[in-house]
Amino acid sequence: MSSTTDRIDIWVDCDPGIDDAVMLACVAASSDRLQLHGVSSVAGNLPSDVVTKNVLRLADFLGLPQVPLARGAVRPLVRPAQDAAAVHGAMGLGEVVLPVSTRALEPEPAVVAMQRAIAALPEGRRMTLVPTGPLTNIALLLRVYPQVADRIDRIVLMGGSTVGGNVTPYAEFNVWGDPEAAAMVLGSGLPIVMCGLDVTLKCGLTREQLRGLLEDENPRRAMLGRMLSFYTPVDAEWRYGVCVIHDAATILYLTNPELFSGVTCDIEVDCGDGRRGETRVVPGGDVLRLNDVDMAGFQEALLGQLARL
Ligand code: BDR
Ligand code: CA
Repeated sequence: MSSTTDRIDIWVDCDPGIDDAVMLACVAASSDRLQLHGVSSVAGNLPSDVVTKNVLRLADFLGLPQVPLARGAVRPLVRPAQDAAAVHGAMGLGEVVLPVSTRALEPEPAVVAMQRAIAALPEGRRMTLVPTGPLTNIALLLRVYPQVADRIDRIVLMGGSTVGGNVTPYAEFNVWGDPEAAAMVLGSGLPIVMCGLDVTLKCGLTREQLRGLLEDENPRRAMLGRMLSFYTPVDAEWRYGVCVIHDAATILYLTNPELFSGVTCDIEVDCGDGRRGETRVVPGGDVLRLNDVDMAGFQEALLGQLARL
């Protein structure tokens, strides 16, 4: 087991969301590898009130460490908010309603809490940001506190696609939701790992593995199984024979990078209306665009993490 000093310092920014919930479960199960410094919410899959409540409830339910939990942006930088309730259910976690949380939100908005956590890192350590919703909070952080850039190790994000979209033929949901924010983050010059649809469509569980979760005696795993059963009818996301769990790819990349492969490039984001949110490869080297994964290895690693819940 790694010593605490080997752990990767992370801040998670998310919009739970069923796959966000599984991603948080992976964080909870990987405390030997990842040191969580906080979790923020961003309007995306559902409005801010819903995803923020889910962050609080999931933190309790999954047994996340006692870290700052903060509310982030309530809508995209420029566009009106458009949610994905049809995919995740009106309350974001399918038909699951978790118990009311005992935890409290930070009094300040997410960018303040993030900046404070980054500034508080011991000298020589740098934060890895893990956004799995629209990039609104990360763009705001970089604009409000540009000095944090020096203390950000990298941004490992779920978003984008060069293989067609899931919300339009061109665009992936998180980038489409706030393309201006995505353009700012992807163009920031910071090292970025893009876990887009290129790879996440291969990151998931088989029907049999889902059934195993659903029937598990452990209440956390069974609950995740219930959430994922709501999610499974999204047919377009079974392209590779698995129920995709997009957001978990970020954490699995951090804990098991050997499973993934990718190419370096830069990414430009279409902020027009016609192909809004399309992410296109351009020459450069700031972005590691993941494009493949050992699917069986991913499943084994993911189930191994969930087994520790
Ligand atoms: C992304 O969109 C959301 O619905 C999921 O939570 C994931 O972050 C996939 O396109
Ligand atoms: Ca998400």
